Amino acid sequence: MNYNSDIISVNGGVFEKLIDEKEIERRTSELGVQISKDYEGKLPIFIGVLNGSVIFFADLIRNISIDCEVDFLKLSSYGDAKISSGKVTLLKDLNCQIENRHIIIVEDIVDTGLSIDYMEKLISEHKPKSLKVVTLLHKAEATKYQITLDYVGFKIPNRFVIGYGLDHSQKYRNLRSIYALTNGK
Ligand code: IMP
Repeated sequence: MNYNSDIISVNGGVFEKLIDEKEIERRTSELGVQISKDYEGKLPIFIGVLNGSVIFFADLIRNISIDCEVDFLKLSSYGDAKISSGKVTLLKDLNCQIENRHIIIVEDIVDTGLSIDYMEKLISEHKPKSLKVVTLLHKAEATKYQITLDYVGFKIPNRFVIGYGLDHSQKYRNLRSIYALTNGK
């Protein structure tokens, strides 16, 4: 496989470049500036959702210009499938105290909205002072849950995507740009 190509073939699937790394870099910087302004003087905790958000998370927090803390949650993933199983389980809980703190969940992608709905309920039980969500990608047409996304990098069509942290069967997270499947969803 050629990691620098605009078209990638994997296991019979053909993926085309959807969002270039430069565009991701530009938008991530804009989000960082906006969030830093909104949370001036507040010391928020950024909660990364493992594994998919790690790359976006690392780039986003380096664009945050105020004091902040970080922690991570891990949820069950799609496994090897390309569509959501409709079930979420918690694989790794938070280590920080969130009561009375400003919490920002950092997601790579929101699809049905199930994972965000689950995390919002879980975190709200611990009485944070505020709770917001930032996601790099949003498949708006696929979202079925009543959730609020406070910061969205890009709205994308309802297509399966890989790269920049997003996987297919745990691979291709290391692609620098985001690629969408051309044949099938
Ligand atoms: P949701 O719970 O249906 O909103 O799905 C969110 C999670 O599903 C994300 O954090 C990803 O791990 C995974 N996911 C959703 N869409 C894609 C995709 O197109 N490619 C790779 N993973 C995806």
